[in-house]
Amino acid sequence: MPSDAKSDAAVIFTNPDAYTDLQAWHAVAARLRREDPVCRVESARFEPFWAVTRHADVNEIERQSDKFHNTIASVLQTREQVAQMRSLGPMLKTLINMDGQEHRNYRAVTNDWFKPNNLKRTFQPRISDLARKYVDRMVELGGECDFAMDVARYYPLQVIMSILGVPESDELKMLDLTQKLFGADDPDFAGGPDRQAAALAAVMDFISYFREMTANRRAHPGGDLASTIANGTVDGKPLEDLHTFSYYVIVATAGHDTTSSTLAGGLEELIRNPDQIKLLQQNPDLIDNAVEEMIRWVTPVRHFMRFAQENYVLRGKNIKAGDGLLMSYLSANRDEEVFEQPLRFDVRRANAEDHLAFGVGVHFCLGATLARMELRTFFRELLPRLESIELTGPTQYSAATFVGAPKRIPVRYKLRK
Ligand code: HEM
Repeated sequence: MPSDAKSDAAVIFTNPDAYTDLQAWHAVAARLRREDPVCRVESARFEPFWAVTRHADVNEIERQSDKFHNTIASVLQTREQVAQMRSLGPMLKTLINMDGQEHRNYRAVTNDWFKPNNLKRTFQPRISDLARKYVDRMVELGGECDFAMDVARYYPLQVIMSILGVPESDELKMLDLTQKLFGADDPDFAGGPDRQAAALAAVMDFISYFREMTANRRAHPGGDLASTIANGTVDGKPLEDLHTFSYYVIVATAGHDTTSSTLAGGLEELIRNPDQIKLLQQNPDLIDNAVEEMIRWVTPVRHFMRFAQENYVLRGKNIKAGDGLLMSYLSANRDEEVFEQPLRFDVRRANAEDHLAFGVGVHFCLGATLARMELRTFFRELLPRLESIELTGPTQYSAATFVGAPKRIPVRYKLRK
């Protein structure tokens, strides 16, 4: 592959700004899938790593969790960030930083809580109420709003806060904190020029908030997720502080921006394809599949890293023990070997659910059922009431290599009350 394409590869995986122009991003990713699907990326600020862009290869890595570990560095970080983490020790240790038996033990603490039966029974009514509340809010906003900022940001946040048991009065504080943690690459969301410091401050704030919550749930356990975490045990002992707080943080952060982004990006794509809005209005049974296509399309979690535990040959490339591999879900979900016309948004796509947006294998997204419930419930509320909708200006995407999607979707619409 010519060297300019290799440097394009370095840019699309390491430069947050590359994610603000997704059309250009996907053009480079498509070329990589064709010409160098397991591509060695070298860039001054990062340890060299392999960028894995094909669906089959991401699958092959994810399904062999004994050979490819998440480790503490499961998200791409600069040399400087890695050095800082090594010298200070990790601020958090969440499920996505664990491997093997440790991961199985900690995942087991909440696994049952996230099962469809529990969620449906305990939270579907609340989620339906919130979906109605946010579609009503669109009516209150008078027929024009920024869907990303005014609606999509808040609805999943309120769902996740209800699930954790955080009162409504603290939700704005939590919104600010999750954005400082997850949107740390984007100047609109980061806490200032020193994003590491902003992220650290956000973690400290989380810890003090949830320390109080843990004490409360140990004294008065209920049916919420915070009670399950606060009273969870591993090897017969309560979780240590680091693990308890890490659990809250992963749920509060992983459960928010991901779903907001899919909601905003999904609506944007419907607006760009008005025939598909009509189709869904005439055939509401298609909404579940439409949501799957939105998740494939948006793929809000752009990547995760894995580290080879032994030498391995992947698509003819010699991966050495210790090498890092960036699994690009965003690219895998546009893989033409799996998805026909992958650059077309199609709510009828027969195999939309073959996407890898939730990962696969032992780390498969714990909140996938919840995310699907939220998205399906929202569109089931919105679409029957929607008379018309259009974009009133350009949409904007956040600059983030890890989790990102639209941050501005200016819309004008007519909705039935
Ligand atoms: C559309 C929305 C979402 C997307 C696209 C998404 C995506 C992902 C991905 C790609 C992973 C890593 C999978 C892997 O390594 O194989 C993951 C893990 C995880 N997600 Fe989600 N997620 C979403 C929503 C949620 C929600 C709503 C929650 C919780 C309330 C959640 C909680 C988690 C947790 C706890 C993990 C770690 C699981 C583990 O390592 O065992 N996610 N998610």
